[in-house]
Amino acid sequence: MSAFWSAWVTVITLAVIFGCTWLLLATRKSEKFKETTEETVGHSFDGIEEYDNPLPQWWFYMFVATVIFGLGYLMLYPGLGNFKGLLGWTSHNQWEREMQHAEEVYRPVFAKYAALSIEELQMPEHEEGLKMGQRMFANNCAVCHGSAGQGAIGFPNLTDDDWLYGGDPATLKHTITQGRNGGMPAWADVLGEDGVRDVASYVMTLSGMEPATGTDVTNGEKQFQALCTACHGPEGKGMQALGAPNLTDDIWLYGGEFKQIAHTIRAGRAGVMPAQKDLLSEDKIHLIAAYVYSLSNK
Ligand code: HEC
Ligand code: HEC
Repeated sequence: MSAFWSAWVTVITLAVIFGCTWLLLATRKSEKFKETTEETVGHSFDGIEEYDNPLPQWWFYMFVATVIFGLGYLMLYPGLGNFKGLLGWTSHNQWEREMQHAEEVYRPVFAKYAALSIEELQMPEHEEGLKMGQRMFANNCAVCHGSAGQGAIGFPNLTDDDWLYGGDPATLKHTITQGRNGGMPAWADVLGEDGVRDVASYVMTLSGMEPATGTDVTNGEKQFQALCTACHGPEGKGMQALGAPNLTDDIWLYGGEFKQIAHTIRAGRAGVMPAQKDLLSEDKIHLIAAYVYSLSNK
């Protein structure tokens, strides 16, 4: 701000404050200050008149307090033109400074938990560490996996013992740090619509459900053995190295109705678990992984 505008802002701000103060004091009728009277100011609006009473005392002092607060604030913080304020406060990099402060405060706490294995963190005496993991889960993961990790269609449930990629501590940390990309190819072109329906029916029988009417399960099985076993295994039990789900346990990432299964096979699926390595430090991921581990290892 140029010197002119700085002076402009300063003069107007102070003039308004002192002007209000003058008005307040000038209109305060000291001789009547303590009593209320029956006198009116003399005008009447539709028969409504106004008493000529002073401001209540508490109200007057509240105005005075406001003026003192305002002047004090303008002394301490920037606001009056180019004046920086006596405290030297600035909004520049405030977030960075607060984060850095928090890092310093919490670093020893995180370091303490980083030295413990994920299994050790399950012990009751380290409950506080798991609670920290839970809070970070709520902030970073719950949007997709649900507030209790229960998942939703397309977002895996983290509380059961059914894993796309594996639920041991090392795999969990790898999944969270590096992210994952599910790769279920689309089969509409290869199988045709009838073929898709046949295979969907066969997949349903794998977890004990009735096949859909009007489909050929024998053909479905034949196609499954030809096209699907490379990833889902000959018995459809899945393969964690590829993130291919077990199709025999009646737990469904994308829904277990005929319509949903047929859609998965027809159009493919590509669930994305975003990598957290650039968002969260290793120590934080460690505690979040410990919390996720606790969900299915009570
Ligand atoms: C934008 C949504 C999203 C966010 C945010 C997210 N995830 Fe995921 N996560 C997914 C999806 C989708 C998958 C499944 C990927 C797939 O289909 O291959 C997944 C998979 C996983 C898996 C593998 C589950 C299994 O069965 O092997 C774990 C563990 C996991 N997420 C933990 C986390 C944690 C912990 C966080 C927070 C740090 C998190 N996720 C944040 C969407 C998300
Ligand atoms: C290249 C490996 C691969 C092949 C081949 C493959 N799949 Fe998949 N399939 C996957 C992966 C990976 C997923 C998980 C996708 C995700 O996480 O987004 C999946 C998911 C599924 C699902 C969803 C399961 C659920 O829980 O909702 C079904 C059903 C399925 N596949 C059936 C089939 C059938 C039937 C075939 C053969 C026609 C087949 N897949 C071939 C890798 C494969």
